[in-house]
Amino acid sequence: VKYLSIFMAAILMSVGLQSSAHDQGDTIEQAISYRQSGFRMMAWHFKPMGAMVQGKSEWDLALFQKHASAVAALAPLPINGFIADSDMGDTHAKSEIWENWDDFLEKMQALVTETSALAKTASGGDKDAIKDQFIKTAGTCKSCHKKYREKM
Ligand code: HEC
Repeated sequence: VKYLSIFMAAILMSVGLQSSAHDQGDTIEQAISYRQSGFRMMAWHFKPMGAMVQGKSEWDLALFQKHASAVAALAPLPINGFIADSDMGDTHAKSEIWENWDDFLEKMQALVTETSALAKTASGGDKDAIKDQFIKTAGTCKSCHKKYREKM
């Protein structure tokens, strides 16, 4: 068992995951950076769909489908970074999140539901239905930001 834990520590260290005594603050910073990265990745895929929906770039169904499935895959992830006490530090998350946790979870669930519906609608190929579902999905981003994200 001892050998195994030394072995494990060596592996974790080699990938930069070894925990240390002063890791509480680090963990919070990492959680913040994790969720911000998740949102940034979502936005990377979300924006080009918005441009197509608004007619600012050419309609490309295959490309839309790719972006829609990426957003659906990413949507369940950011919640993992909203750990306790991570309302301090380099973040735009309001502390209201932790005061209204159930409501926040509901809004995250709405994001998961609508992005997954968007991916499904996109694979159907009906442009009007896709546009409607995109607008509905964008509404879930907006309603959460309005309440729980500081202006940035
Ligand atoms: C349930 C709430 C919620 C939903 C839904 C949500 N967001 Fe956010 N978003 C946040 C919060 C809170 C932050 C601030 C995170 C932080 O700074 O720690 C944020 C931050 C961001 C950021 C900035 C990340 C950075 O660089 O710091 C982007 C971009 C973003 N969201 C895009 C989106 C998009 C696009 C959607 C919809 C597809 C979406 N968000 C849906 C709550 C949400």
